[in-house]
Amino acid sequence: MSTCDNLRPVKTSLTGIKPTHLPHLGNYLGAIRPALSLVEHYRTLYFIADYHALTTVRDADALRGYVRDVAATWLACGLDPDRTLLYRQSDVPEVFELTWVLSCLLATGQLERGHAYKDALARGESPNAGIFNYPILMAADILLYDTDVVPIGKDQKQHLELTRDVAARLNHLYGEGTLVVPEARISNAPLVPGTDGEKMSKSKGNGIPLFEPPKKLRKVIMGIKTTSEALEDPKTAEGSTVYELYRLIAPDRAPEMEQKLEAGGYGWGHAKEDLFEAIEAEIEPKREAYLAIRADEDGLDAILHAGAERARAIAHRTIGRVRSAVGIE
Ligand code: TRP
Repeated sequence: MSTCDNLRPVKTSLTGIKPTHLPHLGNYLGAIRPALSLVEHYRTLYFIADYHALTTVRDADALRGYVRDVAATWLACGLDPDRTLLYRQSDVPEVFELTWVLSCLLATGQLERGHAYKDALARGESPNAGIFNYPILMAADILLYDTDVVPIGKDQKQHLELTRDVAARLNHLYGEGTLVVPEARISNAPLVPGTDGEKMSKSKGNGIPLFEPPKKLRKVIMGIKTTSEALEDPKTAEGSTVYELYRLIAPDRAPEMEQKLEAGGYGWGHAKEDLFEAIEAEIEPKREAYLAIRADEDGLDAILHAGAERARAIAHRTIGRVRSAVGIE
């Protein structure tokens, strides 16, 4: 699987992607691009967490669609399935065996303190048990593959702490080395602003599409909110949505845009045009790749199928170790 069979043992990095929407530019800049850059340094496993999505997605066809949207997007953005193990969570049912074993070692109080669960209660919702148990399934996702490092956003930190706790507890009770205790690698990926300047998010309707046709992309970019100085006025680049996005897409050329904005005589419309061109330059080849992948659904199935086989081989070994450690079989 790895190209790095050299002296230094290669660490395993694993992360899960919840298929709840068609990926947008914020996902690309904030998650996909940084995650793909890890391939040089780790043995990487990326999986599509469809059972996690089931806590919120209620439309079967939509869920099926999102799984393929996500897989095709990652592949189009450069995930090489020969180097990175890409699989669908639900293709490896061993994860539920481990979920159960872990749940028997966790106090319900620890789950009651879960941010997502507590937030749902605070909003006056009655969260389903899937949301309550979410962190256990996530711990099983991680521990099943002898993961050393988990790249995550800050919002997932608590889940990683629970994962480490439960792994350490199992090892302590049943034998050190049964599970690998993973480390979080908290991403310093920037918050990517959407068209209204808030964090780009599907639910806020402020998304910038990733693989829509260029005309559509341009239209959305032209609709980004800006301040309303006159063309000749000097403008503050830092903190403006257009400039912050430009800085993420074209860091080398960002100082130039900053200068132009601050000098005056360069309007937000010009800046948006430059932003559109910079995004288009980065996205265009990936859009082509995406369309080609979507035109070959059998090919996509074959990739997911091959990933599932390899993932199950690893899962099978871990669950074997766990079963005999805890006294099942
Ligand atoms: N909970 C993660 C999120 O919402 C997705 C996820 C599921 C995950 N299982 C994981 C991430 C295992 C890292 C490792 O983004």
